[in-house]
Amino acid sequence: MKTITLIPGDGIGPEISDAVTKIIEAAGVKINWDIQSAGADVAEKEGTPLPDRVIDSIKKNKIALKAPVTTPIGKGFRSVNVALRKSLDLYACLRPAKNIPGIKTRFDNVDLIVVRENTEDLYAGIERQIDENKAESIKIITREASERIADYAFDYAVKNNRKKVTAVSKANICKLSDGLFLEAARAVAKKYPQIEYNEILVDNLCMQLVINPSKFDVLVLPNLYGDIVSDLTSGLIGGLGVAQGANIGKDCAVFEPVHGSAPDIKGQNKANPTALLLSACMMLDYIGEKDSSQKIKNALYKVLEEGKTLTLDLGGSASTTEFRDEIIKNLQ
Ligand code: NAI
Repeated sequence: MKTITLIPGDGIGPEISDAVTKIIEAAGVKINWDIQSAGADVAEKEGTPLPDRVIDSIKKNKIALKAPVTTPIGKGFRSVNVALRKSLDLYACLRPAKNIPGIKTRFDNVDLIVVRENTEDLYAGIERQIDENKAESIKIITREASERIADYAFDYAVKNNRKKVTAVSKANICKLSDGLFLEAARAVAKKYPQIEYNEILVDNLCMQLVINPSKFDVLVLPNLYGDIVSDLTSGLIGGLGVAQGANIGKDCAVFEPVHGSAPDIKGQNKANPTALLLSACMMLDYIGEKDSSQKIKNALYKVLEEGKTLTLDLGGSASTTEFRDEIIKNLQ
């Protein structure tokens, strides 16, 4: 039996984690979950929101499934999510946005992959208050990290039969930092002549994505643009409740949805577990459990296509647990 770290998170995290682990179990996949709490409650008890035991568990098991963890805005501890990605060097954030059977959206031809650099940019957390009326944040872009993420994007394109990689920047304004990102992407592109390469400014990308998303295939972006654009692409396929993701490094991988801890619906049995479930399916594919992953996706798609048992965010009135049970009923 495989041991996998499970971070149930906070907010809606524990509710959707419970639904997802029960669906995986019902699909017949035997996983020994090494449950590791993290976040604000943990900080109160253990003095830090991300104790070493969480990192050690992932280092040992190599794979984790993670539900969202709240990050206080402004004051308070640094994001657990950012710290986790950094300390495990999970440099590639992979966020596929593909239409999901049964979920009606404005477009029925969305099939793109957001590859977000996960370790630097403004997320390096280097900020200072100069005086009470002035603060600054430093944006770090290195050739090494930029080449590494570009290489990941091109390699992904080759392995997954994709045709084009688009590097996204604001190099007209951030001439040095984003300029370096593009320089690195161009150098890597030369190694992959079979993949088409082009570049776009992030503001233009946003406009084009909401008009014609089928123009894009694999997008590679520095951290901040990747964060924002992947919420936009989640919107193209039905919203945050259904958007899957993974953070991948050389040694470990942490699978987690795009969305956050949704404090507005916490503890109300209303959250949609689809995004975490699809992230878990990415994880099952990653560990070679492709048949079980497909079985779960088929059951999910059936429930979504029937449209009778949907959570609130998808226009239905079903609770998280009713939605979970309907998926379990459809597992074959
Ligand atoms: P959010 O993604 O938690 O929520 C945005 C909106 O989408 C809310 O209206 C929420 O109810 C809805 N929503 C999100 N997930 C849903 C789901 N599964 N089912 C139904 N509705 C859902 O974003 P927000 O409010 O900006 O962030 C809340 C907290 O989460 C913050 O502390 C933020 O830092 C943290 N966060 C954590 C992430 C992580 O752990 N990877 C990622 C993003 C945010």
